[in-house]
Formats: sequence, structure tokens, C-alpha cells
Amino acid sequence: MLAGALAFGLHVSAEPVVVSTPRTSLVLDATEGQELKQLYFGDRLSDADLAVLGAAGGAARAAYPVYGSHFCQGETALAVAHTDGNLSLDLAVTGVDVKADGDATLTTVSLKDKVYPLYVDVCYKAYNGVDIIETWTEINHDERGTVTLNQFASGYLPIRRGTVWLSSLYGAWANEAQVLQEPLEPGMKVIKNKDGLRNSHTAHAEVMFSLDGRPQENAGAVIGAALCYSGNFKLRIDTDESDYHHFFAGINEENSAYRLRRGETFRTPVLALTYSNEGLSGASRNFHKWGRKYRLMHGDRERMILLNSWEGVYFNIEQEGMDQMMQDIASMGGELFVMDDGWFGAKYQRNTDNAALGDWTVDTRKLPEGIGGLLRDAKKHGVKFGIWIEPEATNTLSELYEKHPDWIINAPGREPVTGRGGTQLMLDLGNPEVQDFVFGIVDDLMTEYPDIAYIKWDANMGIQSHGSAYLTKDNQSHLYIDYHRGFEQVCRRIRAKYPDLVIQACASGGGRANWGVLPYFDEFWVSDNTDALQRIYMQWGTSYFFPAIAMASHIGSNPNHQTFRDIPIKYRIDVAMSGRLGMEIQPKNMTDEEKALCRKAIAEYKQIRPVVQFGDLYRLVSPYDKLGVASLMYVTEAKDRAVFYWWKTETFVNQHLPRVKMAGLDPAKRYRVRELNRIDNKPLPFEGQAFTGAFLMANGLEIPYTHDVDYHKLNSYASRVLCLEAME
Ligand code: GLA
Repeated sequence: MLAGALAFGLHVSAEPVVVSTPRTSLVLDATEGQELKQLYFGDRLSDADLAVLGAAGGAARAAYPVYGSHFCQGETALAVAHTDGNLSLDLAVTGVDVKADGDATLTTVSLKDKVYPLYVDVCYKAYNGVDIIETWTEINHDERGTVTLNQFASGYLPIRRGTVWLSSLYGAWANEAQVLQEPLEPGMKVIKNKDGLRNSHTAHAEVMFSLDGRPQENAGAVIGAALCYSGNFKLRIDTDESDYHHFFAGINEENSAYRLRRGETFRTPVLALTYSNEGLSGASRNFHKWGRKYRLMHGDRERMILLNSWEGVYFNIEQEGMDQMMQDIASMGGELFVMDDGWFGAKYQRNTDNAALGDWTVDTRKLPEGIGGLLRDAKKHGVKFGIWIEPEATNTLSELYEKHPDWIINAPGREPVTGRGGTQLMLDLGNPEVQDFVFGIVDDLMTEYPDIAYIKWDANMGIQSHGSAYLTKDNQSHLYIDYHRGFEQVCRRIRAKYPDLVIQACASGGGRANWGVLPYFDEFWVSDNTDALQRIYMQWGTSYFFPAIAMASHIGSNPNHQTFRDIPIKYRIDVAMSGRLGMEIQPKNMTDEEKALCRKAIAEYKQIRPVVQFGDLYRLVSPYDKLGVASLMYVTEAKDRAVFYWWKTETFVNQHLPRVKMAGLDPAKRYRVRELNRIDNKPLPFEGQAFTGAFLMANGLEIPYTHDVDYHKLNSYASRVLCLEAME
């Protein structure tokens, strides 16, 4: 037997080390005294194949390439300057430790420089129940003084050349998570973020590699990688003259050289790796399962259906208005009301975005009975209450800034560089006093008002002037890293004391959709753009790496406040219902008919909520393929229930839309079909009929291109939500 495969304990044998999940294997050569090599990553190998893996030929590349001794030409994961100025590394294996770690097996390969007392542990945490391997490194040294880390990636993966396609996400504010698919060509592809705080507006820290050519949703071998980090990142894919694409992922080292003290350990963020032979959707399902089970806060709890006040009233918060909104969401069956920006500020009022961040006292001119009054009203209406804060920020117009001008991030000696509203500044979270202050904002609110059920935690500015009054002059380059360590520290304290609180990560919309923050946050705001049509594209991209339960998806106003597009309520509902459903609208401006549809949709969403929020995602037709329609579905693990979504994305007379084949069903089961949110005068021909999973997956159902509604209600939008239930 290949002892490396599963045995726990310390390894000394020259046999390969096998890191396994239920359906995947990652194989290492960890021969003592030699460089650590990666031999294989893919479908789980049998013992028979493992025994002859070496003979098959393969990667045998350094598993964690380092700079300077045998390797100067290619890209590397780790580069340091030793205390004596030497820039080279030469690491050899000193041992392998394998132990159980909760629901996973942790394999640690210890490396040491052949000359210097510099140590690197390369760690692999392989889950027993899901196909995810988390990898990271821990770096420390015993040199006299400070070793400077110039490059410190979390992990490296060699990917065999062939017809490999990369899928990644790019975008901008209000257009987040756009899918880009491209074949990998010679040269280097760099995907990076340097905002300092918000790291998912533009590029994302997650990618997928389709190994068999053009990406397919439900077929083909796919490697997925997600860097679990909230700050600046850099992903590199170098296609050099060798047979491999070289993939590196880690903290962006630019302007972040880290001075590692003797005895201190630098732990790189987790890089989560997956492999699936069920296409992009298969890799997504692996990320979603792992996320819900091990990484997302409250990944096993159903989310509340909410109304957020932002697009309804913006900064015009006042008690009666809040009461009316609470009453309205309650009457539609919602469960939570969230009061957004504009509720705070004493000396400086928060009437627009230029003042009062940092002064987290209620503005009694707007809310004479304070938060207590609002909580009382929420209780009266039978809904929970949530509140918006932006705790990492201040404004030049604030009492906080008057008191603590040295708490902000800004290059010492320079005029403060301001952001939103022309006055915003970010607090220096590397400073423990600032950490206490930020923790105190949540702690004070929750101590005084323990009934607050939800916090929308916003962050609306990046780092625009590099500098910290707290850091020593030698350590200014620690700013970005220390910020996120401080942020995480605060999050940990909040979670230790308030484990049940629901917290949303918002950062100018979708700036904090990353697996670095989600261990502390229940969800993220996908985008400030609530336009349902554009949301299909953004939510599609987001779903590559993040489960529906974490994707806040709201029914917006008409016309939409970002695109000014008119979209009927039915379509807005049908899109919002594919994520964590909420509303971002002024209910008092809605017609009775619109309210009635929302009430019905909320009731139906409650029925399908477990399927959407805990089910397996199968993406069927991509909006990016421009076929005129986009479609996806969620299926329960038991394959007894499913929800199918179909949204028309273009309208032309006599167009031809594809008939969408379903996926993920049990071929042998018969599923009864029921349309949700129906607006048509007559039911669809298949309403109430039962079809086998085999039929639905081979043929799908013919969905009419328009709605059967009265003439004056006709419009260019069409969408369907079908609920499928297996018959006993
Ligand atoms: C950011 C958020 C919005 C809203 C505003 C409030 O832009 O993304 O959802 O909360 O701040 O100022």
C-alpha cells in the first residue's frame, strides 16, 4: 500500500505524498533533502495508478518555486532578502506531517533552506466531504535580524498545456463580476487588485481553468482556484517555453515587502483549489458546498427576506418613513427591514455622503425616538430590524476626525487625500486603538440594542495615500497587509461576542465578494446596480465561485436608478429570486398589483428557499453566449426538488431561442412542474404535468417567448420560474 496516501503521522519514506478528497488527488514528491515537487492534480487516483504515476511522466515541478538558487529565470512563489543581503533561496524537504483536522486531513510539508535558518511549511488541507484542497504556507526564520519577504504567494500549480481556457471575472462599480473566457497563450496573464480595501469590483481573486478547450458548463475537466483574501491580490499565469502554464496566487506584493522578525511566522492566505470533471458548474458546486459548510458564516441557515431603505429614501431617513417601510415589507411577507445610510451624526448631520462617518450616534432630528423607537416599531410589525454602518471610515467633517486626525490612512506629512463626498477618509485598522474603536461601534450598538438582527457593513473608499502614523518608518510597506489583519482581528472579536448577528459585506456594492471576509459575513451585496437585466450577467459571474445564499439580490425600482431602464416587476422578481431575495425599493410608490405580485413571490420564495439557498447549481445557458436567453437551476442534494429559471435577455420578432435542456436531475425520477410567479392568463401546457428527469435533461420544456397577458400589459420582457417536485 502507498503509505503516503492516508496514513497519519510523520513521513520519512520516499513514497509520494497523496492529498485526497473524495474525488480528487494531489500528489507530491516530498523526498527528504530534495526540493518538494508536485506530481499530479486531478481525478482521484487508484492505488494501482499511483504506483506507476512516475512512469507515466508528468509535472514533477517544484510545488513552491523559490527564487535565486537553481531558479532565477521563471516566475516564483517566494523571494526574500536574508539579513546579510543574500537574495537566494534553496529549500529542501525536512519532513511531512499528516493529521486529522476536523472534517479534513492536514498535510504539512516542512522545508528548510540548505544554508540559512529559514523555514517554510507548505500546508494542504483536504476535506473529507467536499472536493476542495486548501493550500497555504507558513514562513519563519531564525536569522539574526529581519528577513524581507519580497514575494510570498500562497500557492503554485503547474497546469499542463494543451487547449486550456481561463475563465475569470472583471468589471467595475455597478458592473461587477463580468465573465471573461480566453485561451491561455504564451506570455503572462496577471489578474490583480491594488485598491487596498475593496478587492472585487474590477478583477476577482478566483479563476477557473477548463482543461479540454472552450469552457463548458456541464462537461469537461476544470480546475478552480479561489484566493481567500480580502486585500490586494495578484494571480499570475505564466505560459513560458515549457509544457506548463504556471499559476501563482497570493497577496499582491507590490509596495508590500514584509519585514519578518526572527521567530515571527508569516502565514499566507488560503488558496482553495478544486478539480471537477463536470464542467464549470461542477467546480462551482464544489466551491459552494465547501463555502456553505466550512467557510461562509451561517452557511447552514436560511436567510431572511428583507427590504433595504437605500433606494427607497436614500439619506432621507425619518421615523415615520421607516415605520411605513417596515409596515409595507411586513405586509408583503418580508422578515427584515434594514435602515441604510443617513441615520447618524450629531454635530455633523449625515444628509449626504460628505459628513459624519465615525460619529455613530443617532440623529435625533430625524429619529426622535432613536433606534429604540425603530426596534419597537419593527416588533409591532413583526419584522426584524437591521442597520447600516461604515465603521472603517470617517469624514473630515466629523467629530471623530477632529479628535483623532492621526487615525487615518495617509502618507505622513501630506495633505489628506479624500474619497467619497470629497471628505471621506479610511481609518488605519493596523492600529490596535482603531481596531478597538471599530469593534466598539458594533459592540456599543449591540449592547444597547441587542434586538438588532442584521448589520450592513459598508466600505466605500480604497487606500489613496500610502502611509500610517502608527507604523514605524521601516514598516510602512506593511500597511496593506496590516490593514487586513486588523480588519480580520476586529471581525473575529465581533463574531466571538455576537455569533448570531447577520452581517452583510458591502463595499460600494460588490467590492467585498471574496472568501477572505465570508468566514465573518453572511452575505455580500453583489452590486449597487439593481437593474434586473444587468444583474443576470453579474450574478452569473458571481455564481462561479459564490453560492446563491451569499448573493444579496434585490427587487429594485422602476425605472431602475442606475440604468434608468424600465423593467416590469415580474422580471425583476424572477431575477432577484435566484439569489438571496430582498427588496430595494420604495413600497409606497408601488401599485397594488405590483405589491400583490411581490407578496405572492415572497410566499413562493419561502417554499423554494431551501432549494435555492442550499441546492446544487447547474448553469444551463449563459447570458454571455448571446443566445437571447439565460437559464440556470438549483437541485436539492436528494434530487427531489428543483427550481428552474429562464430569463429572456433579448427580444426580436421571429427570433429563435434555444430549447433549454435541464441538468442535475435524477433521470429515473418523475418531476411534477409548477410555474411560480405566474402572470399569464392561462397556465402553460406543462403546468401540473410530470416528466422524467431523463426527458427533462435530454429535451427540456418548450418555454413560450412571451407572456400571455392582456394587450396593454405586453412588453419586451419574459421570464419563467418553474418548481419541480419529484413524485413519490
Ligand atoms: C454604498 C452602498 C450602497 C449604500 C450606500 C450608502 O454605496 O453600496 O448600497 O449603502 O453606500 O451610502
